[in-house]
Amino acid sequence: MKIFIDTADIQEIRRAARAGLIDGVTTNPSLLSKVVGDANIADYMKEITEVVAGPVSLEVLATDSEGMFSQGRDLASLADNVVIKVPLTEDGLVATRRLRAEGVGVNVTLCFSPSQALLAAKAGATFISPFVGRLDDISHQGMELIAQIREIYDNYGLDTEILVASIRHPLHFVEAAMIGADVATVPPAVLWKLLNHPLTDRGIEAFLRDAEKANIEIPST
Ligand code: G3P
Repeated sequence: MKIFIDTADIQEIRRAARAGLIDGVTTNPSLLSKVVGDANIADYMKEITEVVAGPVSLEVLATDSEGMFSQGRDLASLADNVVIKVPLTEDGLVATRRLRAEGVGVNVTLCFSPSQALLAAKAGATFISPFVGRLDDISHQGMELIAQIREIYDNYGLDTEILVASIRHPLHFVEAAMIGADVATVPPAVLWKLLNHPLTDRGIEAFLRDAEKANIEIPST
């Protein structure tokens, strides 16, 4: 399963990229609004695309297909690894077809049902983004949606990648991998939780303590 980082915070993206943990980035207008400040938005977005080689999702703001298409084209011109995020609406799917016909990658976002996911794949979406956390928030089982989409896509050999979004905790990530999602996009706070384990820390402390007690040093060559 590929791992994307779900943030627009350039420091977090740099740290995760340096650690070799991420294959791409997803942003959205809410995430950008937290970090962009007075920066030039195009420069800021371009900087993100330079930190990772993999796909960087940048979202349109228009709600009509013509506007989405034209904003998508503009965003795609920023860098080769830009993928255009469009909402899962009738206009969004029209824009998806048009952008895909021009060879632009599209991430269809705000997916909350298996029927929506099937329509997005038929429109040629590169990625489909089901939001598991927001479904859990309204007492649905977000992960059930991932399993349903996996089954439907496999039934028909659809190659749209399932990009699990709105991940809130490590269990979401593990369940996504067990179901066979293609990508999980993970907020920084969750990403670091995936890596850490208290028993790992305790184990290192014990090894170092025992080595020191026995005066063990690593021989240099
Ligand atoms: O990328 C969008 C998605 O991950 C949003 O997550 O936590 O705002 O539902 P959240």
